[in-house]
Amino acid sequence: MRERDYKIAPSILSADFARLGEEVTNVVAAGADFVHFDVMDNHYVPNLTIGPLVCQALRKHGVTADIDVHLMVKPVDRIIPDFAEAGATYITFHPEASEHIDRSLAIVREHGCKSGLVFNPATPLDYLHYVMDKIDMVLIMSVNPGFGGQKFIPSALAKLRDARRLIDASGRAIRLEVDGGVKVDNLRAVAEAGADTFVSGSAIFSAGKASDPHRYDSVIHAMRAELAKAGAQRV
Ligand code: DX5
Ligand code: ZN
Repeated sequence: MRERDYKIAPSILSADFARLGEEVTNVVAAGADFVHFDVMDNHYVPNLTIGPLVCQALRKHGVTADIDVHLMVKPVDRIIPDFAEAGATYITFHPEASEHIDRSLAIVREHGCKSGLVFNPATPLDYLHYVMDKIDMVLIMSVNPGFGGQKFIPSALAKLRDARRLIDASGRAIRLEVDGGVKVDNLRAVAEAGADTFVSGSAIFSAGKASDPHRYDSVIHAMRAELAKAGAQRV
């Protein structure tokens, strides 16, 4: 039996932005692996969030965990180098937001970051076929992008299974991430569908009391326990 290398990626979209450095320090201390960084432009998606300056500020604050930048912006090419410079580890974008997907993926890697494509609930996985050698991550959206706290769309499970088959057939080390409505209750099902990287925003950042630096320990612990059950079933 082989257990997957599972990564928990709290989405800071649901963190307290007035205390962001402390929030990220606390969630990483609780056992989070990646910092999921949602970038929205009020154009590609109907919301506006944070940019490279905030990413850089987290690095300056001492955050050493991988920062997983999820671009929900259009166009994407101009902003990629800024995020690389600001300390991003992964940079993923939506194929609909780039006129030249292959070129955008190349820009990410040329700037020293890991690259990935993000698939909205109704976007087919076809975009993957000719770029499997150019990506390090596939991100399956289990909500429509733009807001935290939405309900998980169940058809994402079948899509995760399809993406898992494609990744395994490629023989490449590509992470399979899921984003939207993921919480302790559905984590095992999502892992069993093939995901190995789990974005979770509201379910993590709503835990405990704001004054408690250990407020995220129990939710991350509960997530690890669910993943251990899923891992035990893996072949
Ligand atoms: C949605 C974002 C997600 C979101 C997840 O557009 O990409 O990362 O913050 O939040 P929850 O876990 O609350 O659905
Ligand atoms: Zn996201």
